[in-house]
Amino acid sequence: VAGANDLKVKFLRDGKEYMAYGKKGDTLLDMIINNELDFDGFGACEGTLACSTCHVVLKKDVFDKLPNKACDEELDMLDLAYGLTDTSRLGCQIEMTEELDGIEVEVPASTFDAR
Ligand code: FES
Repeated sequence: VAGANDLKVKFLRDGKEYMAYGKKGDTLLDMIINNELDFDGFGACEGTLACSTCHVVLKKDVFDKLPNKACDEELDMLDLAYGLTDTSRLGCQIEMTEELDGIEVEVPASTFDAR
């Protein structure tokens, strides 16, 4: 059903699990905000690619099936993130699709605000 929050993501942060629900087109940042997850400092620039606080780490298979690859601006910001990995992305740049329903997303507890 269009508009229903029928897609879910399990966020892992600091040893805890958080379920979030959203709809197609929501970014991971949207889901964290809409589900009122209290991730201190996350998403400081509100998705404008000006910080790196929305750094997330994905499993390889999830990383590989993301519909969009990181643009240059995202890569520049990722370079500034703490604990960068080969499967790191910025959460504000990942939009939910049906294929991503049920994924697990690791949120590093330490963030760096590049602003
Ligand atoms: Fe700042 Fe994603 S929220 S780059």
